[in-house]
Amino acid sequence: MDKFGWEGNRIRLVPIDIEKHMEIGYRWINDPDVTERLIAGDVPVTLVGQREWYEFASKPNDKNIVFAIETLEGQYIGNSGLHGIDTRHGFAESGTLIGEKSVWGQGYGTEASMVRAYYAFEVLGLRYLHSGYIGINEGSRKMQMRVGYEVVGTMKDAYWKRGAYHDKTITQLTRERWLEVSGGKRVYEPLNF
Ligand SMILES: CC(C)(COP(=O)(O)OP(=O)(O)OC[C@H]1O[C@@H](n2cnc3c(N)ncnc32)[C@H](O)[C@@H]1OP(=O)(O)O)[C@@H](O)C(=O)NCCC(=O)NCCS
Repeated sequence: MDKFGWEGNRIRLVPIDIEKHMEIGYRWINDPDVTERLIAGDVPVTLVGQREWYEFASKPNDKNIVFAIETLEGQYIGNSGLHGIDTRHGFAESGTLIGEKSVWGQGYGTEASMVRAYYAFEVLGLRYLHSGYIGINEGSRKMQMRVGYEVVGTMKDAYWKRGAYHDKTITQLTRERWLEVSGGKRVYEPLNF
C-alpha cells in the first residue's frame, strides 16, 4: 500500500488503525515502565477499554484528533493527539506517548511533536497548544522545550505518582513561538536545551 500521512524526517503521523495498532497499544498502556512518568496509567486497561479508546480515536472527530506515530518503515511507536480542539479560541491540548521503549531518547517524540505543531498551526489554523508534564518527566520537559513550548505555570503537588506528590508544569506553544523555532517548516533542526 502507498504510504500516507504527515511526514517528518523519520516518522509519519497516520490515522489510527485498530487492526494494526490496538494490541500493541494495549501492551504499552499496561507496562509500568511506559506509565512511570505519566499522569495517566496505573490502573489496568482491559482489552475492552482499549478497544473503546481505539474506536474513539479512529472515528472522524474534529474536536479530538489522534494520530498513530509510525517510523517511515511503518513501525508503530506511539500516539500523538490534539484534544479538546476549540476553533473559537483557537487552541487544543497536545499529548504524546512513545510506547515503544526501544526507541526512547532518539528524537522521535520531538520530531512527532514538531510535525503535529505544523499540522495544528498550518493545517488546522490554531493559535496555540497547551500541554503539561509532571516534575519527574525529564524526557517530556526536554522534548517540549525543543519544540518551543514555554512554561506558563506550576501546580504544586498536583499528582500522586508511585509514592510521592509531584508538581505539574503547564506549558504552552504559541504559533509565533513555533514559527520562530521551526521557520514554519514541518522538519527542522531541534533546539538544544
Ligand atoms: C517523554 C517522551 C514522549 C519523549 O519522547 P522521546 O522520543 O523519548 O524523546 P526525544 O528523544 O525526542 O527527546 C527528548 C530528550 O529527552 C531525553 N529523554 C527521553 N526520555 C527521558 C527520560 N525518561 N529521562 C531523561 N531524559 C529523557 C532524551 O534523551 C532527549 O534528550 P537528549 O537528546 O539530550 O538525549 C517518551 O519518552 C515517552 O512517551 N515516554 C513514556 C510516556 C510519557 O512519559 N509521555 C509523556 C507524557 S507528558
